[in-house]
Amino acid sequence: MIRTGPVIIGFMMFALVGFCWCGPALAAADVTAPKPSVEKVVWTAPDQEAAKKRAAQVVPFVEAVMDECRLCRQQRLRDMGLNVKDQTESYYLLNSPIIRKTEDHYGPVRFMHAKHAGVTKDCALCHHYRPVDDTAMETTRCSACHQKPFQKDHPERLGLKAAYHQQCMGCHKEMNNGPIDCAGCHRKNVPDHKDKINLAANPEPSQVTSECLRCHKPAGEDMLKSAHWLWKGPSPYTLKHRKEVELGKATIATNNF
Ligand code: HEC
Ligand code: HEC
Ligand code: HEC
Ligand code: HEC
Ligand code: HEC
Repeated sequence: MIRTGPVIIGFMMFALVGFCWCGPALAAADVTAPKPSVEKVVWTAPDQEAAKKRAAQVVPFVEAVMDECRLCRQQRLRDMGLNVKDQTESYYLLNSPIIRKTEDHYGPVRFMHAKHAGVTKDCALCHHYRPVDDTAMETTRCSACHQKPFQKDHPERLGLKAAYHQQCMGCHKEMNNGPIDCAGCHRKNVPDHKDKINLAANPEPSQVTSECLRCHKPAGEDMLKSAHWLWKGPSPYTLKHRKEVELGKATIATNNF
């Protein structure tokens, strides 16, 4: 009996808050609009545009780094009282032109900065060094010190891609939490093909292939060098087996469109 009071009040509060939240959202939505088609919803951060702009920046290389032991730095940052409020951005897109100069197989990597700081509770785990320059930020971005790999004057510093991979995946492995598989951090840059393909109804198989090759010429060339394509047959692995295969694509051109 004693408990019902707060429960009922709690329920009323919930109903009230729920009602207030729904009100404007319903008013704003166009009720007559057709339902959107079922598509995979890709989450977009509210600060996506700012994050994109930031990702495109390249800052000057920091030559001189403060010589400080790991624990000393950790303690110093703790004494300074550095915390999540000192993070200038809570979300990053990592997509540096330094890396893109040589490779760009994937879209930007999303990095939840504030969430990471909240979970790990230690800025120094990632921000492991600072520049000697007094006026520099305590928690400088990685790309100020890690840029191209194999720099003559700084052989001890990893290139930016390796620095990210080693630190990000290293910690995920150590904490047994966070992705270590490629797709956990990288989405492939694959556009929707619905409006890319231009074919008449009931096309011939060869027409489909040439339509794909219009854009995927290198994939077509790779295919021509593959064992699948060059296989002469009969396969040594199938000789004397029940399903012995006599034919090879390079000799008998079945399925060869
Ligand atoms: C914990 C997250 C994480 C995981 C897991 C991860 N990567 Fe990365 N990777 C990154 C980050 C961050 C960058 C740097 C992005 C930038 O600034 O361009 C990067 C960059 C790259 C790049 C260069 C940029 C590009 O678009 O081509 C390649 C290639 C790459 N990763 C391949 C892989 C492969 C292969 C795997 C799996 C073996 C993998 N990564 C796993 C975070 C990750
Ligand atoms: C899990 C790793 C990680 C943790 C923990 C972390 N950060 Fe970061 N932080 C990063 C990465 C990666 C970047 C760089 C992104 C880039 O290069 O654009 C960054 C960038 C920053 C920047 C911007 C630097 C610049 O030059 O513009 C600030 C400020 C910052 N962090 C503060 C903090 C503070 C304060 C904490 C602790 C409360 C913290 N970070 C914890 C990984 C981390
Ligand atoms: C102020 C310069 C500076 C900044 C900023 C910096 N690093 Fe480093 N980093 C270094 C130096 C110097 C080394 C080489 C240390 C040594 O002599 O072993 C290093 C080494 C590394 C290594 C090799 C293993 C290790 O821990 O020594 C990794 C991985 C790494 N950095 C990742 C990062 C990442 C990720 C960031 C951003 C969150 C970052 N670094 C920011 C200077 C910096
Ligand atoms: C000091 C340890 C540590 C480092 C360094 C670290 N992570 Fe993580 N990461 C975690 C932990 C712990 C989680 C799990 C958080 C959770 O879901 O509670 C995680 C989760 C993630 C996730 C899963 C989805 C999400 O955002 O919650 C992604 C993606 C990710 N990390 C990317 C990165 C990238 C990219 C870097 C390097 C720039 C990085 N992490 C560096 C500890 C780390
Ligand atoms: C108008 C151009 C265009 C046409 C036509 C086209 N594609 Fe693509 N396709 C792209 C682009 C751009 C990408 C993304 C970049 C990349 O991975 O090469 C892509 C990516 C892909 C990928 C992902 C590749 C990967 O590495 O993950 C597959 C699979 C694919 N296409 C299959 C096809 C097939 C099958 C056809 C023919 C029915 C086709 N595409 C026709 C432009 C096209």
